[in-house]
Amino acid sequence: MMQGCRVLLGLSGGIAAYKSAELTRLLVKAGAEVRVVMTEGAQAFIAPLTFQALSGNPVHTHLLDPEAEAGMGHIELAKWADLIIIAPASADLMARLAAGMADDLMTTLCLATEASVLLAPAMNQAMWRHPATQKNARTLQTYGYTLLGPDQGEQACGDTGPGRMLEASAIFALLQSHRDESSSPVSNTQTQKPLQGRTVTLTAGPTREAVDPVRYISNHSSGKMGYALAEAARDAGARVNLISGPVQIQAPEGVNLVQVNSACDMLEASLQHLPDTDIFIAAAAVADYRPDNAADQKMKKQPGQNELVLRLVQNPDIVATIARHEQRPFTVGFAAETQDVENYAISKLMRKNLDMIIANDVSRSDIGFNSDQNAVTVLWKQAGSADPATPDIGRYQPDQASKTTLARQLITQISDHFLHSNT
Ligand SMILES: Cc1cc2nc3c(=O)[nH]c(=O)nc-3n(C[C@H](O)[C@H](O)[C@H](O)COP(=O)(O)O)c2cc1C
Repeated sequence: MMQGCRVLLGLSGGIAAYKSAELTRLLVKAGAEVRVVMTEGAQAFIAPLTFQALSGNPVHTHLLDPEAEAGMGHIELAKWADLIIIAPASADLMARLAAGMADDLMTTLCLATEASVLLAPAMNQAMWRHPATQKNARTLQTYGYTLLGPDQGEQACGDTGPGRMLEASAIFALLQSHRDESSSPVSNTQTQKPLQGRTVTLTAGPTREAVDPVRYISNHSSGKMGYALAEAARDAGARVNLISGPVQIQAPEGVNLVQVNSACDMLEASLQHLPDTDIFIAAAAVADYRPDNAADQKMKKQPGQNELVLRLVQNPDIVATIARHEQRPFTVGFAAETQDVENYAISKLMRKNLDMIIANDVSRSDIGFNSDQNAVTVLWKQAGSADPATPDIGRYQPDQASKTTLARQLITQISDHFLHSNT
């Protein structure tokens, strides 16, 4: 798909610049024609010569250089590109782009181009979380720029959190799917991409609650429903953070997979992604309780001890915590019940202050946990009910279907309600 694609790779001044050498290699190997533009900041982190050697083309660094302008000038370069990917995109560059500045070659190209512009932000977690950067990210999205990532985890500065640049292989995969979509004549319309520019954060799979370093308490969740929802949300145009407990299935390409074990880890990762989340979907089967004080060493069988009592303490309620948060996104919960499913689900919808709840009966072996099929009922509070304490409940019950089919129907329902709640 990248064969013959003219990619303008921009680098700004961030420590992640080294990852873009690998990105250049992947693009060239896939048959793309690559030209590289570097800000002055970027050149302090990695030498232009590296990119000249990898791309086979001279690197563009200056706007006001008569010689460069006589060669391939800035407008020509802007018109040449089929797509522009800026990786790393520094906080500074994002601010300058959001302000519509044209004070160097990179920002001028972005203003002058009619090609798609994609950005892979890379910065310290506090810089990423800063309201100014968040505002700039949203502004850039309204201009039609696509943000890839950022990832979260350990950072070069020693901090942990969101702001790491995606790995080169992940950016490459996203560029490929972007290219697939833009070469399809019908796929990029607003109606088919209702979540374009939005971020969906999902939890999926089971949690593992450690008893000791080798044992844990868990459940039968396969993660299939959550993963199918992540794929459907991605196909609806959203950037997707998939916060997953341990499962045996592959994450869909192009989603930001965050692997966790326990309920406490899952909550922490969910809160880290909250500042840029528009829709939160809690599809994970989170353990309600965990062993109090997991043993540091493997617990030994004691001769003559026929009973072992484990003391459990309650885990935090992830979806309720998110739904009560001051930066609350549109919040969707799941109710996996074995009896009186709909009534329990409605009570959970109200008690946890959710926008929607998806109820399923996990006592049936043909649907639910580990099955490829599911049957659900979606419930929500009707707007404009006479008494907000006892609102009318809206209800949607699609036919039993594969989790993939159902996920698409559910994402359509969720995005309709989300967009309606925002108007
Ligand atoms: C060692 C070091 C590492 C830096 N890493 C980053 C980074 O990862 N992301 C970022 O946004 N800024 C980072 N900065 C700050 C930018 O380099 C600085 O804001 C610069 O003005 C960016 O210029 P540019 O956006 O024109 O390339 C770093 C600075 C230093 C000294």
